[in-house]
Amino acid sequence: MTKTVTAVYPGSFDPVTNGHLDLIERGSKIFHKLVVAVLRNQDKEPMFPVEERLTMLRETTASWSNVEVDSFNGLLADYARQKEARVILRGIRAVSDYEYELQMALMNRKLEPQVETVFMLPAEAYSYLSSRLVREVAQLGGSLRGLVPPAIEARLQKKFR
Ligand code: PNS
Repeated sequence: MTKTVTAVYPGSFDPVTNGHLDLIERGSKIFHKLVVAVLRNQDKEPMFPVEERLTMLRETTASWSNVEVDSFNGLLADYARQKEARVILRGIRAVSDYEYELQMALMNRKLEPQVETVFMLPAEAYSYLSSRLVREVAQLGGSLRGLVPPAIEARLQKKFR
């Protein structure tokens, strides 16, 4: 058994929110290494290109020395194996997240039985927060104070100015 436990925290991060960062901070305290991994081959049209999402993640996670930011293509289970990760970390905000997360966790277990999905809860203050809502509020000119870091809010404002 490996002594160093690496966890992969996958997602779209379009853009990273304070909810994601809350989970990253919690994860970085539990696992020796946490790899935040942005999916490249996604069907949906993103707001920010992958490279910009990676930059935003690197900027906002720089203070945690055991957090690495990366991207991946293809199956998450294959990527986790390649990173020698024992854990896939996912956040669950509300019951509504559960069904999709359950399906994904069980499929990933079927594909790679050595990797365990671990769910963590973000702070209550972020339980309604999602990248989708952040994009919508930004597009319609609403304030995102407290929901994303100031540097991310500035990038969103620039996009819609
Ligand atoms: O932030 P998101 O959009 O909820 O993240 C979804 C993500 C990237 C974790 C998921 O779509 C994924 O892992 N995609 C990779 C392809 C894959 O492995 N599919 C089978 C998983 S059940």
